[in-house]
Amino acid sequence: SNPLKLGLAGLGTVGVSVVKRLALLENELAMSAGRSMRVTAVTARSRDKDRGVDLSNCTWFDDPVSLATNDDIDVYVELMGGDSGAAEDSVRAALKAGKHVVTANKALLAKHGNELAKLAEENGVQLNYEAAVAGGIPIIKTMREGMASNAISRVYGIMNGTCNYILTRMELEGLSFEECLQDAQRLGYAEADPTFDVEGNDTAHKLALLTSLAFGTQIEADSIFLEGITSLTTDDIKAADELGFRIKLLGVAQKTDTGIEQRVHPTMVPKSSAIAQISGVTNAVAVDGDAVGSITMSGPGAGGDATASAVVADLVDVARDFKIYPLGRPAAELQPYVRAKMRAH
Ligand code: HSE
Repeated sequence: SNPLKLGLAGLGTVGVSVVKRLALLENELAMSAGRSMRVTAVTARSRDKDRGVDLSNCTWFDDPVSLATNDDIDVYVELMGGDSGAAEDSVRAALKAGKHVVTANKALLAKHGNELAKLAEENGVQLNYEAAVAGGIPIIKTMREGMASNAISRVYGIMNGTCNYILTRMELEGLSFEECLQDAQRLGYAEADPTFDVEGNDTAHKLALLTSLAFGTQIEADSIFLEGITSLTTDDIKAADELGFRIKLLGVAQKTDTGIEQRVHPTMVPKSSAIAQISGVTNAVAVDGDAVGSITMSGPGAGGDATASAVVADLVDVARDFKIYPLGRPAAELQPYVRAKMRAH
């Protein structure tokens, strides 16, 4: 059959890793996906930069919307980031033009996911976003497929690799917040604007998506109680340590009698707990369901290869013509989000 033609927007850490994985696994992917895949078109901020990948067979576009709606692509792979502007315009345009969309853009989905899911359904195309939450951990597929027959009461975990990396090194090496953040940026873990990592917004974006999948509710990121890690010092971490605790930035969503509670904040966790063992860029997500009790998955939450792993898995789903509602059920049937009355935590 025809190769699946990919239009790729964004050639940063993740975009370049996606190009490399597609080349490295060309034959294996063609086998498991049932058809081969080929990047036919690309766009990025700078055309001339040497990224160490061969893009000579791809058509270059200056404008993401033109690329996204081009006749020569079947799937629009959006890896630029940003919750508005070019990312939003191009994803909307792609869906309207009948292109499948694969994205890692949690900020965009946290803000416009309800509408974009509807748009994908109306146009009979897929909107896949495994890479948007917890990097290499296949938590979206787990929530949409594996947990489909569970009534879920809670989903929580460490969802930002940059923050966990910073907290781990502050604790183990006594380094300052700033030093650790710079290393996280250098390693390609942080967002383009790292404020989103350290202020908790990135965790909130991911949590908002998991909440919708867990409870069948509309995505509602604005209601999340939010506190980041910028004011934590090595002294705070030492004080927690002396009491037998570690400090982790957690995202938590749970069902309560009054509605759904969503919160992101630094949390003292007992050193003996499973979540306290999660170190460095690793993420961990736990889900409580009525049939399975509790399941936890941990793995790399950021970084080029780990995130590309999720992007390419989404492309395999498109190639296989695997049909699933973006938010696990028809977007029109998502329940309105009801925010729980705030309690002390
Ligand atoms: N900046 C994010 C993180 C990347 O550190 O977890 C993955 O979404």
